[in-house]
Amino acid sequence: MSSELCRKAISSCMPGLCYNAVMRFDVLTLFPGMFVGPLNESILKRAIQAGFINVVLHDIRAYATDRHRTTDDAPYGGGAGMVMKPEPLAACIRAVLSMAPEMEEPSKPPVILMTPDGEPFTQRIAAELATYPRLVLVCGRYEGVDERVREALIDRELSIGDYVLTGGELAAMVVIDAVARLVPGVIDAESIADESFSDGLLEYPQYTRPAVWEGRAVPPVLVSGHHGEVAQWRRRERLRRTLERRPDLLARAALTEADRAYLRTLGWNDPTVGEGAEPSAATKS
Ligand code: 6GU
Repeated sequence: MSSELCRKAISSCMPGLCYNAVMRFDVLTLFPGMFVGPLNESILKRAIQAGFINVVLHDIRAYATDRHRTTDDAPYGGGAGMVMKPEPLAACIRAVLSMAPEMEEPSKPPVILMTPDGEPFTQRIAAELATYPRLVLVCGRYEGVDERVREALIDRELSIGDYVLTGGELAAMVVIDAVARLVPGVIDAESIADESFSDGLLEYPQYTRPAVWEGRAVPPVLVSGHHGEVAQWRRRERLRRTLERRPDLLARAALTEADRAYLRTLGWNDPTVGEGAEPSAATKS
């Protein structure tokens, strides 16, 4: 499918965009146009064209029944802003769930609401979501959605961080991007295997040609041809960076005794050593 056809199909908000996809995302939004750009560039575009993922946009406003197609209303009890009305949103969710996708599906896909008071989205959750054949992502707007819709129809709520966005659309794009790249075939498997967060450590620094740029040479070990030394240098750089930038990650990282010994030379306070901790075999004196 040409990129132009792909763009048109995506922006039409019609179901049925299926390219024998491995994973389908249904996105419920008041602003489907916000997704057209991100889905039509780079890796996501290629993943859609190649049939690894399928994104179907649903305009919640199309499910409003009144003359003005109203989707929001003032909050009961007063207060600032507007609340997403239950009826159009519920009708949209139910319609999407009733759309039988072309693929085999043993169970109902999870209905996920994007909201700042959701569970913090992490690489672990991305990996978990990538195991489903289909996800339904609901983009909240205004001050939020009517609580009764959450109770009746939402399975899970996700936030992408501790800040407030104007709506769930950008957050849904973040989720689609993070999950799609874990779908087999979307990017090469090696890139996923040793990247930041998959084992709880930040990534090592990367260099490419030229060997010297503006007087700065690449670390000599990288051009030494010693694969073992390169691997050790990279592991230590990951440990050093994580200690410097995200020491909180070290508590949950998969660390070997050699990793711990190296981190201690950098001043790391090993929580498994000292008062109240059982010394590990290698640290017993
Ligand atoms: Cl999912 N929605 C909104 N509106 N703001 C957010 C968010 C989601 N995640 C972080 N901030």
